[in-house]
Amino acid sequence: MPSKLPRHVAVIMDGNGRWARRRGLPRIRGHAEGVKAAERAIETAKEFGIPYLTLYAFSTENWKRPKEEVEFLMELLREYLRENLERFKREGIRVRFIGRRDRIPRRTLEWMERVERETENCNAVTVFVAVDYGGRDEIVRAANRALEAGERFFTEEVLRRYLDLPPEVPDPDLLIRTAGERRISNFLLWYLAYTELYFTEVLWPDFDREEFLKALEDYSRRKRKFGGLAEDEEETD
Ligand code: IPE
Ligand code: IPE
Ligand code: MG
Repeated sequence: MPSKLPRHVAVIMDGNGRWARRRGLPRIRGHAEGVKAAERAIETAKEFGIPYLTLYAFSTENWKRPKEEVEFLMELLREYLRENLERFKREGIRVRFIGRRDRIPRRTLEWMERVERETENCNAVTVFVAVDYGGRDEIVRAANRALEAGERFFTEEVLRRYLDLPPEVPDPDLLIRTAGERRISNFLLWYLAYTELYFTEVLWPDFDREEFLKALEDYSRRKRKFGGLAEDEEETD
């Protein structure tokens, strides 16, 4: 058991396409397998009592992909929600979404809203799924919502209230990105200011409990300073 656990873990689930290509399979098979890895990550977060998990499922830039792949991903999400809603309720998994809602196919959006509504009182773990999500887009939408609500002067606290993650959710303590890429790809820009970053070569469909545990162990050894001094550096006299 790691000595210090994060309260909020964010994950860029990358490498589904490469996982499939290495097996001579179509990319969509990688996405289907990626769903199982997401499921394992949710179970592991729950097991360790990590209250918030945020999963990057589809970015505002992922619309650039071939139409067939985009359609498959939207249908995969819908089917996953439909098949798992009862289990989420049974296991106390609250599911919420961040990102734009104006471009999601209607049948997928209906399931997203239904799952949000019906898991509202679940409290073992909260999973935020980022769909049609981009960090820049989120900040611009937040600013526009703030103006519409009559705000006339921005502070960090004012703007934060209009972002997609509810204000009570702490910034991610740990960001995991799989598949060897070392970039943020427009994820959670506002909130990542002091997040610890963890990169692994493992492709997302191969990411399991053991790999999650490695990331948690690594995190527990990090010395966080937030621009100040670490606890053991503070003067005691
Ligand atoms: C991540 O896997 C899933 C989504 C972005 C939807 P990719 O599809 O990006 O996999 P690679 O990067 O091509 O291997
Ligand atoms: C980031 O992965 C988005 C998701 C995991 C949903 P990408 O595969 O889209 O990112 P880039 O294009 O490699 O930066
Ligand atoms: Mg990728």
